[in-house]
Amino acid sequence: MHRTSTHVVLTGDRPTGSLHLGHYFGSLANRLVLQDLHPVFVLVADYQVITDRDRPGEIRRNVTDLVLDYLAVGLDPAKVTIFQHSAVPELNQLMLPFLSLVTVSELGRNPTVKDEIAHSSQAAVSGLMFTYSVHQAADILFCKATLVPVGKDQLPHLEVTRTIARRFNDRYGPVFPLPEAMLSDAPLVAGLDGGKMSKSRGNAIALKATEDETAALIRRAVTDSERLITYEPDRRPNVANLLSLAGLCLGRRPQEIAEEIGYGGAAALKRLVTEAVNEFCRPIRRRRRELGEGDALAVLREGNARAREVAVRTLDEVRDAMGYTIASRAAS
Ligand code: TRP
Repeated sequence: MHRTSTHVVLTGDRPTGSLHLGHYFGSLANRLVLQDLHPVFVLVADYQVITDRDRPGEIRRNVTDLVLDYLAVGLDPAKVTIFQHSAVPELNQLMLPFLSLVTVSELGRNPTVKDEIAHSSQAAVSGLMFTYSVHQAADILFCKATLVPVGKDQLPHLEVTRTIARRFNDRYGPVFPLPEAMLSDAPLVAGLDGGKMSKSRGNAIALKATEDETAALIRRAVTDSERLITYEPDRRPNVANLLSLAGLCLGRRPQEIAEEIGYGGAAALKRLVTEAVNEFCRPIRRRRRELGEGDALAVLREGNARAREVAVRTLDEVRDAMGYTIASRAAS
């Protein structure tokens, strides 16, 4: 299946809540394509949850929910290794030599870390927050990923990862490839208030929402009072967002949808968007309803074991390259 693949793909999400349509069009759709082309690792970044908050919260539920969302949209566990940070000790252990390869001032300069610190609910900056790009380097390098699909905000972490890989190779010999970011070219899906679609802002349509919840959310979306519906992102951003969302769900151009609605006004627009979103999500939601916690746990058990084998191998290589000798090695 992957015989001709030249890439190993790794990407991940923090399990902090249900995935929404912004995630779907921003990253999940791309993963569905990649899973047929390359070996793909999808990390459920459960340890990373405690970088910007004191406690992991309802971590067990959030982890299984995330995995069920993955399965519902069509990520195939036969092709994709879905695994958790907390289940792969060897991945986390890579952080130790990696920390020796970066300076405190380099860590302090990372703009994404600075931004997270600014928005964090924590009173003070934890060591994990400060070093979280190094943890992310371990996520990426443990499987020698070469392609990392991420949003723009994650680019500084990719730079840290490349720096660590380069310095490790210079110091100890060639072990790691230098991974590249793969930026999504999908249009950013705005939330129903025009801001970034985000669960915490209450403007997101969760993939697993019911049809009624979806309708209620779209009914509350901000529009304007012009009867003639037109696609003018600069002048009418909120109307344009709704048209874009319908366009993504229907696989049609937003301009064309606007022309079809014509003088129907906001009510007709919202009816159409609601129908488009619900139609699009129907098979995803149907699959989601057929799955239970047991399915998520089975997928994780298998994915964690696969990821762990890879991590054990890489950690061995790292220790060998560095000259450490381990008298006995137990893989699990
Ligand atoms: N930091 C990412 C986020 O907040 C999640 C993540 C953790 C990740 N490890 C990763 C993404 C490795 C890509 C590669 O969304």
